[in-house]
Amino acid sequence: MPRRLVMLMTDKMIPHRRLCVALLAVLGLASAASEVISPLPPMGFNNWARYMDALNETLFVETTDAMLAKGLLKAGYNRINLDDCWSPRERLANGSMTWDTDKFPQGLPWLASYIKAKGFIPGIYTDAGTLSCAGYPGAYGYEEIDAKDFADWGFEFVKLDGCNMPTGTEDEYRKVYGKWHEILSKMDNPMVFSESAPAYFAEAANLTNWYKVMSWVPEFGQLARHSRDTLVWNSTLYWPDITGWDSILFNYGQEVRLGRFQRPGYFNDPDFLNVDHFDYTLDERRSHFALWASFSAPLILSTDVLSLTDEEVKYLTNADIIAVDQDPLVQQASLVSQSVDWDVLTKSLSNGDRLLTILNKGSTAADLTVPWTHIGLVTNTRHTPSKLSVKDLWTGRSETIDLKRSKRFNVKNIPPHGTAIFRISNPALGSSVQTVPTGVIFNTYSLSCLTDSSSRGGLITWTNCTALDSQIWRVREDGTLSSLADEKRCLVEKDGRIQSGDCSKHSKWDYFLSGALINRDSKKCLTETQDAGAFAISDACGYMTNEQVVALPVGVTVKSLADDDSVFDLRMNGA
Ligand code: GLA
Repeated sequence: MPRRLVMLMTDKMIPHRRLCVALLAVLGLASAASEVISPLPPMGFNNWARYMDALNETLFVETTDAMLAKGLLKAGYNRINLDDCWSPRERLANGSMTWDTDKFPQGLPWLASYIKAKGFIPGIYTDAGTLSCAGYPGAYGYEEIDAKDFADWGFEFVKLDGCNMPTGTEDEYRKVYGKWHEILSKMDNPMVFSESAPAYFAEAANLTNWYKVMSWVPEFGQLARHSRDTLVWNSTLYWPDITGWDSILFNYGQEVRLGRFQRPGYFNDPDFLNVDHFDYTLDERRSHFALWASFSAPLILSTDVLSLTDEEVKYLTNADIIAVDQDPLVQQASLVSQSVDWDVLTKSLSNGDRLLTILNKGSTAADLTVPWTHIGLVTNTRHTPSKLSVKDLWTGRSETIDLKRSKRFNVKNIPPHGTAIFRISNPALGSSVQTVPTGVIFNTYSLSCLTDSSSRGGLITWTNCTALDSQIWRVREDGTLSSLADEKRCLVEKDGRIQSGDCSKHSKWDYFLSGALINRDSKKCLTETQDAGAFAISDACGYMTNEQVVALPVGVTVKSLADDDSVFDLRMNGA
């Protein structure tokens, strides 16, 4: 995306955000905007997936020292977070929490200052409910006391888990997480707030509550766990049927549904990098890292840092890939195309470069060819650069490609479950790669892709994703959308039917944080039906329904809930 466009979009977003926050504040949903407490995704270490309840002072001291010695701090991994099980089973008589003195003989304030003295930022865990997930005291009803203690002990990051809530309703989660937001944001040094609430609403038969929770977590905190735990070290005891790779793909698959929520200062969290789990190949570990970085996701290692080999440290500290994660635009790469064996993702970077990430889900090494148009380049215009410089972020090698000779990029020999990752620049001095948001439009419940069969005499349908041009949509700034199968026609809405037609009529759409894609003329929502033919229709907008929540390519302007009349009215009416 051109730098100019990036700046324009960012500028445009500010009034919407202010308006939204003001309106949400009126409704008691947020006291004030979360100031940008953590503009970039957090990086660091957490004990849970690797050590679970076997945490203690020695583990944290040795891990801190090893993170420093192995160059992980220098690479950006600057947080050391404690997870569950640091306390005794009961609170003190005065209601306060304290630490388990067998595990932490010198106390948590001592440990926090040790961590800080080595150049890291310490973080702690608690639970929004009455008990933590492992059965230790939860913070429900003790929010002020606990938050003050955590700050007094020296912690600057709090993960608020969501087990054991009294009733478990979405409304209750919103109130309790909102309360923590109020408390944390009033502190002299506001803590980074990691919210686990969405994970408790994922995978439901009706995803409305998951989407609702996702719509408020960015107002309250800086990162939110949206789905399953990454595998713990002895995962076969708990999840005997889930392989390491299935687990990575599962969380990856949840993350891609939620791209619209991410923005500077708020990050979707697909959970830890448990890169030493026994059930991964080296290529799978590297994919885990490269995919999370492509998302600008938090990079929190939950691994035995002391035993990390040089080879592992080398890929985890790859400066080019970390720069993608920590890019100031913090775009979450979105799907260009998806098929049984391949996912292709792209996003823009703050200097105007474009990212290309290719995941080989197949079980053999294979080649893939990606047309430049798929990652958003508009060829044959005077803005198209004559050459592109493509850097392979694994090898560090760059090549220059003449666009007149090559309309597509050939990638060779991507290993099974491996991820190729490239940074694409315009080699002309001071120029960026001009792109238009491009990729699949999919229903985030069914995962069906919006498919334009018009060039073959058909209609617009929802079908399995197959990576055909008919499923790759270009979303223009004026609100029109065309598939790459027929760029001269646009997605239009007529009498409740969705068709490919004249770009000048009924062809403009707005995309909202609710996930609704709304036609500007009829105010109706793009809707999936599973009726025979699976035709796309337009229908009255519901409240974040399974049929109407869709994912669009990153870079499309996402309008706030406050601008989304139907959703906002419903929320005001307490729906
Ligand atoms: C839940 C969370 C994990 C971890 C454990 C601790 O499962 O999702 O990340 O915090 O609780 O008990």
